[in-house]
Amino acid sequence: MRMKRSSLFAASALLQNVTASVGAEEIASLFEEASLDRQKFWAKQAECIEWFHPWQETLRWKAPYAEWFVEGKLNASYNCLDRHMKSETRYKTALIWEGERGENRSFTYEELFLEVNKFSNVLKNLGVKKGDRIAIYLPMIPEAVVAMLSSARIGAVHTVIFGGFSAEALKDRIVDAEAKILITADGAYRKGKVIPLKSTTDQALLDAPSIESVIVIENVSNKPLMKEGRDYWYADLMKEAKEYAAPEIMDAEDMLFILYTSGTTGKPKGIVHTTGGYLVGATMTTKLVFGSDPKDIYWCTADVGWITGHSYVVYGPLSNGMTQLIYEGAADFPERNRFWKLIEKHKVTILYTAPTAIRTFMKWGEEWPSSCDLSSLRLLGSVGEPINPEAWLWYYNHIGQAKCPIADTWWQTETGSIMVAPIASYTPLKPGSATFPLPGIEMAIIDDSGKEASSGYLVIKSPWPSMLRGIYNDPLRYKETYWKKWDGEYYFTGDGATKDDEGYFWLMGRVDDVINVSGHRLGTMEIESALVDYPLVAEAAVIAIAHPIKGQAVVAFVTLKDKALKEPFLEDALKEHVVVKIGSIARPEKIIFTADLPKTRSGKIMRRLLRDIAEGRVVGDVTTLADPQVMREIQLQYKEEND
Ligand code: WT7
Repeated sequence: MRMKRSSLFAASALLQNVTASVGAEEIASLFEEASLDRQKFWAKQAECIEWFHPWQETLRWKAPYAEWFVEGKLNASYNCLDRHMKSETRYKTALIWEGERGENRSFTYEELFLEVNKFSNVLKNLGVKKGDRIAIYLPMIPEAVVAMLSSARIGAVHTVIFGGFSAEALKDRIVDAEAKILITADGAYRKGKVIPLKSTTDQALLDAPSIESVIVIENVSNKPLMKEGRDYWYADLMKEAKEYAAPEIMDAEDMLFILYTSGTTGKPKGIVHTTGGYLVGATMTTKLVFGSDPKDIYWCTADVGWITGHSYVVYGPLSNGMTQLIYEGAADFPERNRFWKLIEKHKVTILYTAPTAIRTFMKWGEEWPSSCDLSSLRLLGSVGEPINPEAWLWYYNHIGQAKCPIADTWWQTETGSIMVAPIASYTPLKPGSATFPLPGIEMAIIDDSGKEASSGYLVIKSPWPSMLRGIYNDPLRYKETYWKKWDGEYYFTGDGATKDDEGYFWLMGRVDDVINVSGHRLGTMEIESALVDYPLVAEAAVIAIAHPIKGQAVVAFVTLKDKALKEPFLEDALKEHVVVKIGSIARPEKIIFTADLPKTRSGKIMRRLLRDIAEGRVVGDVTTLADPQVMREIQLQYKEEND
């Protein structure tokens, strides 16, 4: 993966002269302040947002529980909207929306403020109280932003569920969060087709009794069924809503949202973020990493269903008063130049996207971007998975036209905001490295014994404001997943990393049973549970293999029940079953039917050995297997299926 040093420096030398968004001296002093007194540094950073009442204590830390800005009072929606009503930002464009078919809608900060206030009243009229959970299942339309900010405004807790999740996955998340309201749309556009979100919702709600009301936004006009007394049209409710809703006074540690993400068990984790620390983290890092030129047109291609959409579409950019583009649709509709056409048309200056997208564009060919005017761009970002140097250089040369720095940003749903990233024009870049932790963030690479090493596990050494506060309703899992490995001393990211002799961090991907397909996080156990749910399946083991576009792809090894025969339809039927249980992002690339799986004497499946087979490596130590012979058979089977 790594490139020769000489070419690294050739590329980075080019990047020294780009105008910094924050002055170099200012950045150097941020690092300096943070290293001298981290808490004092964060106390100062917390001034990037407006507080109704100041906090009394910067950090109260009782490992593994943090309280930041203790007793501070604020409101996240107030910070993204009301505070801009006092300045010129009021008349500035907040959102430019483009639909897949080329339609445009835009909102100034004032218009967004009005819409959010009205919708806050809609929610209140439906009986939503502070602390109630609101599920949001929407495409990338302005109302998704409105719904999140309205929830925050009235002190409710939003849980956004990515529109690509299946009815069953949607139901599981609604049930776990005990959501009272569901906000959805009649449908979404994708590659010219309509995805009927409302009918998926109806299916999910057959088994989700906590939902009292459903608010439906008309987006595709496909006339869905509306259940009397439960389902309401957004437009109808808005007509009757009053214009102003006072923002709820929230405690810094009041919950802002729950966002579900995959872990190493079959059940997704509801990651809990609170108000004060999260908003400080999202606001401060947006400004630091992406800069704050008031003329910027910023475009983050992430969906609001993921953490990137929370921190770098909603809270970070809006709290900073930025103008941003959001796009509902595919990158190849109607043609493979849609992204570049969007940049040209809206004069986008900052593009923040994922390596899997960049690799797809590489495959489609540079003729698509080269026929568009991308000269407005000044900065590029990358997130979601390691960016290989080839993709980095292609992004740099063909999209950034060798003049835009690339911010490769490492972070997680759990960290809430960017942790490791270069600061444009300040940090010399190396293609493929996320460079260094941001000021105020203390990270290390350690070995099993907890000693610092140049290669090993990536850990965070001290609490940071936007860190998760726990897993919803599961404190034990919180401690075990993140804090147990080194007795509460470090937060374990689940990633492996190395550090080079200049201290640059190189992220290597997950070291646990989590896989990353096209920047989407999936648990191997989650897919396994979906597979064994199929009546003919006895056991399943899921691994990831390297994939040129997706980064990783899912391969499942499946054993069938005693009398079941391997019928030709079975492979497709099983793939479809996973789509029904989770969503199309989890569809296995390949299913290998085997007579048995490699297990230890205590019954644990050795996925590592399956990975060896799938990636064509010499199979590792098999002495701990209950039956070492199993491996030979699987190897033969694998060969047969791949020939
Ligand atoms: C996992 C977190 C953070 C928003 C999107 C994903 C991987 C993320 C990078 C990067 C290498 C990365 C890690 C991490 N990851 N960004 N720049 N370089 N790896 O959020 O679904 O919570 O997944 O994504 O493995 O642990 P997420």
